[in-house]
Amino acid sequence: MNWNPEQMQNLQWNGEIKNREEKERVAQKVASKAEDGQVIGFGSGSTSLLAVYAIAERVQKENLRITAIPTSQEMEITCASLGIPTATLLSARPDWCFDGADEVDPHGWLIKGRGGAMFREKMVMAASPIRYILIDESKKVGSLGEKFAIPVECQYESLQYVREKLFALGAQSVEMRLAKAKDGPVITEHGHFILDARFTNVQESLERDLIQIVGVVETGLFIGFDPIVICS
Ligand code: A5P
Repeated sequence: MNWNPEQMQNLQWNGEIKNREEKERVAQKVASKAEDGQVIGFGSGSTSLLAVYAIAERVQKENLRITAIPTSQEMEITCASLGIPTATLLSARPDWCFDGADEVDPHGWLIKGRGGAMFREKMVMAASPIRYILIDESKKVGSLGEKFAIPVECQYESLQYVREKLFALGAQSVEMRLAKAKDGPVITEHGHFILDARFTNVQESLERDLIQIVGVVETGLFIGFDPIVICS
C-alpha cells in the first residue's frame, strides 16, 4: 500500500530565505550535476533545500533515478514529500554530496550547523568522495569565526565540563543555544544540546582539540574536507 502523497506536506522554510536569488543560482548549478542512478548526500539548510527543489524538478522532467542520503530529519521529510527515495550511510555510499555553510575561509574550511544538523552533515561529507559547498558571497570570510560561533554538540550532563574546556581552549564566549519555538535549549536529532562557542584565529588543530573533549559529540567546524565551493 502507498500513503496518500497529499498527506505529506512539504516542509516550508520558516521565514524568509536570505539572499534567495543567489541561493537559487547555486542550487541550479549543483542540480545540473545529478546523473541517473546516482546516490547523492543531501545537505540541510535553506540553500540545500533550494538545491533539492531543483534536483526534484529534473527527476520529474527527465525521469532521473536519484537516491538521497539526507543529513537531517527535515531533509528526509522534504525528500518524502517530493518523491525522492532515501537511504542511509548503512546501506549506501554517496557518489557525491552537497551542503550549505555559514562561513567559508580561503582554505575551504567551514563553519556549519546554524540549523543544528552538523553531526549527520559531517558523517555524509566524510563518506562522500566529492563535496560541493553551496554559498552566496555573504558566507565568504577571511578567517573563520568572523561572523559565526562554532556549534559544539554535547551530551547534556557534560555541559559544565565542556564549557570550562572550551574557555580553556580560548573561546571568547560560550552560549547554550536556546529554542525559538519551545522553552529551554535546542535539542538535536540525537538528543544533545548545542553550545555556541566564539573563537577567533581558528587554527587547524582546533577541530581535533574540540572533539577530544569528553562529552563533545560533534562540532560545526569542518576542516580538511577540501570541498568544491560553488558561489553565486
Ligand atoms: C545546517 O545545520 C547548516 O549547516 C546549514 O547548512 C548552514 O547553516 C547553511 O544554511 P543556509 O543554506 O540556510 O544559509
